[in-house]
Amino acid sequence: MSTSTLPPERRKQLLLVDDEPVILQVLKAVFEDEPYRLTTASNGKDALAVIATSQVDLVITDKNLPDVGGIEILRAAKAKDPLAEVIILTGYGSLETALTALELDAFDYVLKPLNNVFDIRNKVRKADQKQQMAMENRRLIQELSRKNAELEAALDDARALQAELIQSEKLAGIGTLAAGIAHEISSPLFGILGLAEAVTDEQDLALAQGYARDIVEYCRTIRDIVVDLSSYSRSATHEYLTSVELSKVIADALKLVERSAPVENVVFSTEIEPGLYLNARTNELQQVFVNLIKNAAEAVNDRVLADSTGLAPRTVVVQAGRAEGVLWARVADSGLGIPEDRLRLIFDPFYTTKPAGKGTGLGLNIVYRIVTKYRGQIQVQSKVGEGTEFNLRFPVER
Ligand SMILES: Nc1ncnc2c1ncn2[C@@H]1O[C@H](COP(=O)(O)OP(=O)(O)OP(=O)(O)O)[C@@H](O)[C@H]1O
Ligand SMILES: [Mg+2]
Repeated sequence: MSTSTLPPERRKQLLLVDDEPVILQVLKAVFEDEPYRLTTASNGKDALAVIATSQVDLVITDKNLPDVGGIEILRAAKAKDPLAEVIILTGYGSLETALTALELDAFDYVLKPLNNVFDIRNKVRKADQKQQMAMENRRLIQELSRKNAELEAALDDARALQAELIQSEKLAGIGTLAAGIAHEISSPLFGILGLAEAVTDEQDLALAQGYARDIVEYCRTIRDIVVDLSSYSRSATHEYLTSVELSKVIADALKLVERSAPVENVVFSTEIEPGLYLNARTNELQQVFVNLIKNAAEAVNDRVLADSTGLAPRTVVVQAGRAEGVLWARVADSGLGIPEDRLRLIFDPFYTTKPAGKGTGLGLNIVYRIVTKYRGQIQVQSKVGEGTEFNLRFPVER
């Protein structure tokens, strides 16, 4: 809608202020056909009242009014609406004060007597355009900050979702770990049972005490297994960033994977530089290595099972070290390998080649999310029939 077709109540209000009736008449005539709501005031007090009680967008005011001066009116209009534009009418004699008016952010000034009415009209039109642009800017800035707030809210949602996903994948993974862990716990448990029965029948105190000591040892083994598992299942969102030692995380991850079947065909080895620290959540780093090592072990195991010669290599090697500004880690296996056209799929959520119930296809997706969250990089190299290698790099502050 162009301004000229706006209904009167939505047009901009142009306030004309002068104590000389003739000048007010002239001004009214000049703006009669312009798309404004015209209001006139013949003294400063009335002008201030109009400004106080209504939305005044544009003002033309005489500088020298008998009661309240034009500069005062200028200030009041700007205080009410910083986007209001004011043009000051002034006699030749007070050019200096006209300049003061400009310093006070008047849009322009017009010299009296009004010889050129077109000049006034043009100045008002320009003031109007400037105001229009300022309003548009203000709207855009408001829009921008609203969009910004929306984006931040969306980002928060995405973060929460990611945390949930990481947690639920971990719980699904625990299902498969649990079978191995039950097996792991069962041998010390049966040991305890046998020893406890022996203690019940034992008359010799020294022997009974020896059994009891063995029972304590077995209990410690079980306790360690349970502690490892419960630290893994704890939600990472409640854990703070700490300085995490990589060798410890990798050792714990290996322990967890070794307890989960099937690893009987796999030979693990590690070469970890001591003293590698990363500022992270222990739990999340552990998840990275559990997933990578578990995949590697599964690939080796599958290859061994599919191989009839009995010569298939069985290695999973985990290495980590420090290089220029980065910590690096490598998980390499001599497993089945990944066909080249599948390599780009393996980080996708739910991509799995494992039978239903054995894999969710979320492992590497979670690994990728966690690694990138710490501004790290992950790369994979693989050859069918030779093996696979995952390389990680994390930036470290000096
Ligand atoms: N070291 C590896 N060697 C061979 N193939 C691999 C290796 N790591 C991953 N893959 C392939 O990538 C797929 C996706 O791995 P990902 O860890 O995301 O899921 P998954 O292992 O199938 O299931 P989950 O990890 O949820 O138990 C695997 O199914 C497998 O085909
Ligand atoms: Mg996996």
